[in-house]
Amino acid sequence: MRELADKNGLLIGCAVATDPLGAMMRDGPTPYSTVLAEQFNIITAENATKFGHLSTGPGAYDWSLADALFDFAQRHRMQMRFHTGLWHNQLPTWLDESKHRSNEIAAIARDHLAAVGRRYGDRMYCWDVVNEPISDKPDQPGADSGPLRDTIWKRALGDDYLATVHHWAHEAAPHAKLVLNDYGTDIAGAKTDALYAVVNDLLARSVPLHAVGFQMHLLHGQRYDPSAVTANFQRFADLGVEIHITEMDVAIAPMSGDRQSRLKQQAQAYRDVLAAAMKVKGFTVFQTWGFTDRHSWVPKFTKCDDAALPLDENLLPKPAYFALREALQQAGQSHMPFPVPLPSDPGGRG
Ligand code: G3I
Repeated sequence: MRELADKNGLLIGCAVATDPLGAMMRDGPTPYSTVLAEQFNIITAENATKFGHLSTGPGAYDWSLADALFDFAQRHRMQMRFHTGLWHNQLPTWLDESKHRSNEIAAIARDHLAAVGRRYGDRMYCWDVVNEPISDKPDQPGADSGPLRDTIWKRALGDDYLATVHHWAHEAAPHAKLVLNDYGTDIAGAKTDALYAVVNDLLARSVPLHAVGFQMHLLHGQRYDPSAVTANFQRFADLGVEIHITEMDVAIAPMSGDRQSRLKQQAQAYRDVLAAAMKVKGFTVFQTWGFTDRHSWVPKFTKCDDAALPLDENLLPKPAYFALREALQQAGQSHMPFPVPLPSDPGGRG
């Protein structure tokens, strides 16, 4: 897939799970890392770069796994998505809202973004600065009413916290494309409208925001009309941001038919989404959340034995893998996104 994506000027990638990343770090190349380097030109840590994983105490970090991934990316001329700066999940255990005042939480946020920027700012293609900030129920009363989710960061920094932290992230990593990444916004709907209003407002005020990430977890048997995906992405692209698909996976458990038939339906869902996105100028990144069914968050989440990714448990391609290749092949010269440069110094740094 990597070669085809390179030809299209597209970044194609996946999340890298923590256990195989640890194995790569300890043992050197593994079958997992070989496939990773062959098939993808952008990668993301599934968990290893989240605040709670990096932090060992206030102002203290263990960067070892993150460094290993950045070094791997550099050796293999891959881009990096840094996931994430601030999220409401996977926070450090020492961070306790009942013990810190708002101004302290604001300083913790700013210091964390600065620390990430200092270490990786010039090595990341893009950065999910705030993950999942949009409310699931923007049109209903309650704490989460209005466009933004009620989180520790919003409570401490105020309703305009996205603007504040994007400015901080931009200061910390002036070359990184700053992304607003969320789920449940892949096609039109109330949450998507809330996201659109937020993006529009931030851009109108020249807040540094360069891309919108659409996670695209298709776990409930949903099949999107490709034209609905294209139309939604186009609406955002018209605002001037890049479009990224950041975490796609397609569960087969909710589908009907035998396993072969489900795998075909899954392949069609992957093909439809990638082909729909490739129609949008400004679509620059396509990522799945993992690549092999051996390491996928989906079975834990759905509590059933699923197979949501393009490669199977043995790292062998499934119909979904070939469907993605077809979508890349068919796009051919018609897809002309922003040219995406790959790192040119594969020697590794520091
Ligand atoms: O690190 C501990 C380990 O010490 C412990 O032994 C083990 C016991 O279950 O848990 C480990 O932590 C788990 C962590 O993944 C690392 O494997 C957590 O329990 C588990 O909840 C956590 O799940 C991650 C989830 O984010 C957390 O919300 C998933 O792997 C990860 O795929 C998922 O990723 C998110 C994206 O960041 C944002 N978008 C949605 C996506 C899927 O939920």
